Amino acid sequence: MSAHEPLPVRIRPLQRSDLPGVMQLHRELGWNPAFKADGSTLGQRLAALITEESALLLVAEHDRHVVGYVHGEVVTHLLFAGRELLITEVFVVGSARGRGVGTALMAAIETQAAARKCFRISVLNSRERESYRRGFYPSLGYEERPSVVNFTKRLDWG
Ligand SMILES: CC(C)(COP(=O)(O)OP(=O)(O)OC[C@H]1O[C@@H](n2cnc3c(N)ncnc32)[C@H](O)[C@@H]1OP(=O)(O)O)[C@@H](O)C(=O)NCCC(=O)NCCS
Repeated sequence: MSAHEPLPVRIRPLQRSDLPGVMQLHRELGWNPAFKADGSTLGQRLAALITEESALLLVAEHDRHVVGYVHGEVVTHLLFAGRELLITEVFVVGSARGRGVGTALMAAIETQAAARKCFRISVLNSRERESYRRGFYPSLGYEERPSVVNFTKRLDWG
């Protein structure tokens, strides 16, 4: 099978039984130091998100394996007559990249965002990432905003 052949996947909401699959995906990507090595931090955070009203969590399943997931959070802006979906993560396992899985995940979460009456969908993408260099988001119709800068400040909440 060619590496560029579309990979057939089923996109569906993340369930508790997917947690080991998502953790495995993160291990393969290179375990983030923010997570404990036994996966408990990530597992607990994901489990808590499943019941969060503001969270959208979808997985891409191929051959009963989780090969990717997307997480978005619905945020409210008082200035707009609607809400915004902020994509916090979209990950596809290395061996499945470039085969349409990320595109399918983004299409599915866009549909869910529209159903939640979001007027906009947005994502932060590091310029250092391969996905930025290869224009993943522009290829899906996303526009880079030249007039907006993303400021952040770390907060200590004890
Ligand atoms: C970015 C990512 C989610 C895209 O998912 P994917 O399944 O590889 O993407 P698709 O197959 O749907 O490809 C869509 C387009 O993305 C581009 N692309 C971006 N990053 C890519 C990558 N690492 N590998 C292959 N294609 C990539 C391709 O140009 C492709 O367009 P084309 O098919 O016309 O060439 C996935 O590559 C990934 O998990 N990367 C690492 C994590 C990451 O960067 N996440 C986004 C952070 S905000």
